[in-house]
Amino acid sequence: MENEKTCTGPENELDVKDSSRRNFLKQSSLLTAVALTPGAAVKAAAMHVDEKIAAVFEKMPLKMEVNGKQQNLSVEPRSTLLDILREQLDLTGTKKGCDYGQCGACTVHVDGIRVNSCLTLGVMMNGKKITTIEGLAKGDKLHPMQEAFIKHDGFQCGYCTPGQIMSAVACIREGHAGSETEIREYMSGNICRCGAYPNIVNAIQEVKDGGQTV
Ligand code: FES
Ligand code: FES
Repeated sequence: MENEKTCTGPENELDVKDSSRRNFLKQSSLLTAVALTPGAAVKAAAMHVDEKIAAVFEKMPLKMEVNGKQQNLSVEPRSTLLDILREQLDLTGTKKGCDYGQCGACTVHVDGIRVNSCLTLGVMMNGKKITTIEGLAKGDKLHPMQEAFIKHDGFQCGYCTPGQIMSAVACIREGHAGSETEIREYMSGNICRCGAYPNIVNAIQEVKDGGQTV
């Protein structure tokens, strides 16, 4: 019986710990599976919760200046600046591309700084000055950057163009248009699926070199 193992001692403690760990992992896997594959009951409960949350969302007042005009609005706290501009103010020049902050199509200026309006909550804009592509021209006179985009053929389908132009204006204002490389770097947040990049760079360089007011 010398070689027979007893039921106590360090080895058994390890067995107990191992067993606890296995149980823990099994329970965690089960919970993860439930969370990832909700059944009808879970979905129904989630929808119910969504409705309750939506009901709690009271509209909030929002005062902001858009393209020089004061706007007194009532918005849901979850509304993005992009949706407010497009759906409440009918300023559809600002485009919704990815809605995830990855394409730059929704670029506008907030107090002169370029932002992705799809990532900006409207309620954060209280008291701010917003400029959209519609506010860039002075009456019938196009902004120099708009003229340069036309002259250099800086677009094809045009979907990304409002965002490109708003970014381009900010790029020069920021002092980030010193070279082609710098322009490409600081315009890299604006994606153009038509690949009009060389012409966009030419347009920006012309405005920068011409010293036009931006
Ligand atoms: Fe805002 Fe793409 S729509 S970054
Ligand atoms: Fe078509 Fe840029 S001009 S996506």
